[in-house]
Amino acid sequence: MRVCRTAFLVLYSTVSFTKKTGSSLKDKPTLWITRKLSTATEHRASQNYRVILNPEDMLVTPDEIVAKSHEVDAILPCHSEVFSRDVVRLLGPRVRIIANHSVGVDHCDLDALSKRGIMVTNTPDVLSDATAEIAMLLLLGAARRAIEGDTMVRNSQWNSWSPSFMVGHQVTGKRLGIIGMGRVGQVMGKRAAGFDMEIHYHNRNRLDPETENGAIFHEDIDSLLRVSDFLSLHCPATEETRSMMDKRAFSLLPDHAIFINTARGALVDENALLDALTSGKIAAAGLDCFQTEPGGNTDFSRHRNVFMLPHIGSATFETRDAMGFRALDNLDAFFSGREPRDRVV
Ligand code: DGY
Repeated sequence: MRVCRTAFLVLYSTVSFTKKTGSSLKDKPTLWITRKLSTATEHRASQNYRVILNPEDMLVTPDEIVAKSHEVDAILPCHSEVFSRDVVRLLGPRVRIIANHSVGVDHCDLDALSKRGIMVTNTPDVLSDATAEIAMLLLLGAARRAIEGDTMVRNSQWNSWSPSFMVGHQVTGKRLGIIGMGRVGQVMGKRAAGFDMEIHYHNRNRLDPETENGAIFHEDIDSLLRVSDFLSLHCPATEETRSMMDKRAFSLLPDHAIFINTARGALVDENALLDALTSGKIAAAGLDCFQTEPGGNTDFSRHRNVFMLPHIGSATFETRDAMGFRALDNLDAFFSGREPRDRVV
């Protein structure tokens, strides 16, 4: 194993959450927080754990995950740390829980973790509003050519105006297809309904009428695609959903549909999307997620009608605190002998 390049900071606090049980500092579980989290989260964590922090917020390599795991009882990672089968096999024997600072758990090989008896939790609910905001931003920005307009004004290239100038697609009254009507999908439906959009959705299970709130259920995904003037993805990346948006799926959308992805890049065959943009089948796209992250796919830059963001769906001050606190709630429950609220395996 090579030497780790990331400088981790070990923070020993004198205040313990195990105080209640009379435990001393040395009894505190050691928690590795892999990335820089909100100040409030790191402060709270330091009350109850011997925390190892990453103050410079360096990306953590698989080798570093393995090496550091031998010093800790718990890990609080983000989706940027990949717990593949190989990594999980080499994790240190003390690790008992991975309390993710993310709702998505596709970076974790759940099967391998469960076989090693390591619990995994996530942070659902708390990022739904923030992610739906970014989905609406992308939807509106893609439809109304926000990036093109901003670039033009910013670069002093705006030198004319006419009724045929920068004409985009109206959002009001259009049909929005949502794939994955979980928490984020439901908030997205509500926000889009505020723009008088007609909400259609596909989900593993139909929602009850009250939660459905007038949205139209499609048991068959093809039937949803055929009516989606706008399509927004809100489902997890799993073996079943990987590359679900392929050439065939894009061909089923109405001509000039607008495609939005704030879920995961793995859901999309990016070459198929590039072809659909080049042919004009898709009028525009709004992407916050890519197959390769960080970095994205620079081939999309050739298309002025693609509005791209660097995976910032949940990146608000409020939501970062809420995600950190939810992950700590799960850890606190685990180390107090209670079942964590958001146990995944
Ligand atoms: C999530 O929580 O899954 C978001 O993508 C940020 O990690």
